[in-house]
Amino acid sequence: MGRVCGRGLLLLALLAAAGPPAARADGAAPPAATVAVRSEHAQVQAGRPAKLEVRVADGASKAALPPSDFQLSHERLIHMVVLGADLDTFFHTHQTSTTPEAFVFSAVTFPKAGDYLLSFDGETKDDVAVSSRAKLAAAGAPKMAAFDARRVGATTVSVRPAPLADPSPAVSLASLSAPAGSGAGAGPVYEAALDGPQGAACSPGARPQAYTLKLSRREAGAKGGGGGAAAPVTDLEAYLGAPMHLATISSDLKSSGHTHGTLPKAAAAGAASKPAPAAAAAADEHAAHGRRLAGSSRRSLAQAAGGGGGAHGGSHDGMDMDMDMAGMDMGGDDKTPAAPSPSGGAAGAAQHAQHAAPAGARFGPVILAEAPMPRAGVYALVAQLRRGKELILLPFYVNCSGPAQ
Ligand SMILES: *[C@@H]1O[C@H](CO)[C@@H](O)[C@H](O)[C@H]1NC(C)=O
Repeated sequence: MGRVCGRGLLLLALLAAAGPPAARADGAAPPAATVAVRSEHAQVQAGRPAKLEVRVADGASKAALPPSDFQLSHERLIHMVVLGADLDTFFHTHQTSTTPEAFVFSAVTFPKAGDYLLSFDGETKDDVAVSSRAKLAAAGAPKMAAFDARRVGATTVSVRPAPLADPSPAVSLASLSAPAGSGAGAGPVYEAALDGPQGAACSPGARPQAYTLKLSRREAGAKGGGGGAAAPVTDLEAYLGAPMHLATISSDLKSSGHTHGTLPKAAAAGAASKPAPAAAAAADEHAAHGRRLAGSSRRSLAQAAGGGGGAHGGSHDGMDMDMDMAGMDMGGDDKTPAAPSPSGGAAGAAQHAQHAAPAGARFGPVILAEAPMPRAGVYALVAQLRRGKELILLPFYVNCSGPAQ
């Protein structure tokens, strides 16, 4: 359970794009840093590309944490995951450039007017994971619809894939959904089942809840039909250096977590036992992780941070980082090699095997993930997986309404 992934944790404050810092309703540890999001115009307009500049600073000293202080983490310097208050408008993208002070997102289009939560995750060169949120309001039209609460509690979804792109545009998660028996010739449909605590069985608190996701695929519909039986997907590939990225965002947009899927033990062992050259290379990378980690003063900090019952980040307002699978590449859009990242060290060695899908590995249909849910309420869980050039986005809505931990 405990993925102590060898990283220190640095809390960043919420800072609205134009407004006061948002309250931390759960009384978590005081913020250690802040993030500020600025757009070139005073007001971001729905449907119009906005240039965003994101500055990170140490909360205590107020010293800037410029992009040059960051290292690659899951193949990027910083990850921005965005979800609208409709719990439907979603994207996960990355900076297009940097200035000496800021990460620049050159043309971000928020398709609907309304509130968005922007969650940022990165890692400094000192191996300190940085996680932070900011709210942004887009004006104009069309207005975002209210979340449809009937979607809460569903344990299966059927979706069409989106194309892989980076920077990644906003999508409506609902628009990807493919009703059973949907038309012929429209490409494959992915069906996913989520197994894990919901409702009264879900205990909000510091420890994330554990979920299992199983994915199957239905081929493009045969004539006039829904395309035959769904087959388990066994050829998923790493997406941004992980078997899966999972965004867990509270419906009030007050907390978010960015966690990474792991493979079941048997599957990971099977992948690791294959004597592929890529596997050997990945093993070397992992050894390098270990060496670097051994010299890192952050190790004990990370172990302490992750030691509280098994889930990194859970006690930090849902903020979460995880180890990389070094050597993975999402397919040529970024020439920068993935930097070795700290791994779990001794405490995380067993977990490491589960993460260690070597470069080029194919896996599925089962992925495990943990979802931080610090308070009772409804959470959007958006799983992000990759198969070839397809990005598979799976939205689930969990009401975590059991007794607090
Ligand atoms: C979530 O669960 C609580 C407690 O059972 C209930 O009151 C609430 O209506 C549920 N919310 C949704 C959106 O289902």
